[in-house]
Amino acid sequence: MTKIFGHRGASKECPENTMISFQRAYEIGVHGIETDVQLSKDGIPVIIHDESVNRTTNGKGYIKNLTINEIKALDAGSWFSNVFRNETIPTLEELLHWIYTKPLLLNIELKNNRFAYEGLEKKVYDLVCAYGMKERTIISSFNHYSLVRMREIDDMIDIAPLYSSGIYEPWHYAKSLGARSVHPKFRSLPPYILEGFHFNQINVRPYTVNNKKWLMYFLDWKVDAIITDKPDLALSLLNGFIPPPKSFLHMVYNKLTGK
Ligand code: G3P
Ligand code: MG
Repeated sequence: MTKIFGHRGASKECPENTMISFQRAYEIGVHGIETDVQLSKDGIPVIIHDESVNRTTNGKGYIKNLTINEIKALDAGSWFSNVFRNETIPTLEELLHWIYTKPLLLNIELKNNRFAYEGLEKKVYDLVCAYGMKERTIISSFNHYSLVRMREIDDMIDIAPLYSSGIYEPWHYAKSLGARSVHPKFRSLPPYILEGFHFNQINVRPYTVNNKKWLMYFLDWKVDAIITDKPDLALSLLNGFIPPPKSFLHMVYNKLTGK
């Protein structure tokens, strides 16, 4: 069965990547949470999408130039709505402490494609292990060198390259990284690519799928998981899902892409 991952929690209803956003996604009934990790000036992994705090807090500056005390003093909710003014940027440890008692999967995206964040992989790995979450965690990144470093730390943890456009026979590429999963942008997955991944036993978890027709397309293809800003919509489609005949699947893709 396809699993549904809340992108940055329930980011259409709550300020992204905050504890209330994760709590809300859990209440909606997601199978997993997708989130983003960066490193503070004093080396603490924190949960935030952008490299800077400018867009999603009342502060200014890059995460890499702020200490954890400075980061925790920021309001990470008011930019979204006054109702959320008490929200802060969570540390990865706060998220792990919350999630490890719940039946949820976790996708940690290492946001080290702009700044290198020396040692991020080991810090994240040690925290995930400390909370007994290794088997329930997927480590993804647009920085594929970072994923190879993670693979060198642990030969079993699920690593998944994020990518946004057409790689030739991407299952070979995934295997070259030591990955058994991929997180492609949803538009880069025509039927022959999905079939290739399936044949090569690579898990596919497209991002970020918010449109009903595309959600149905990926449910029809039974991808391992879908990363979405609309987990409520995805779950309602999943709950009413009836598998279609194979001949239908190619026709749906042609319609979606105007072919
Ligand atoms: O992990 C899927 C997705 O989150 C990747 O892009 O920019 O939303 O972190 P972004
Ligand atoms: Mg992300």
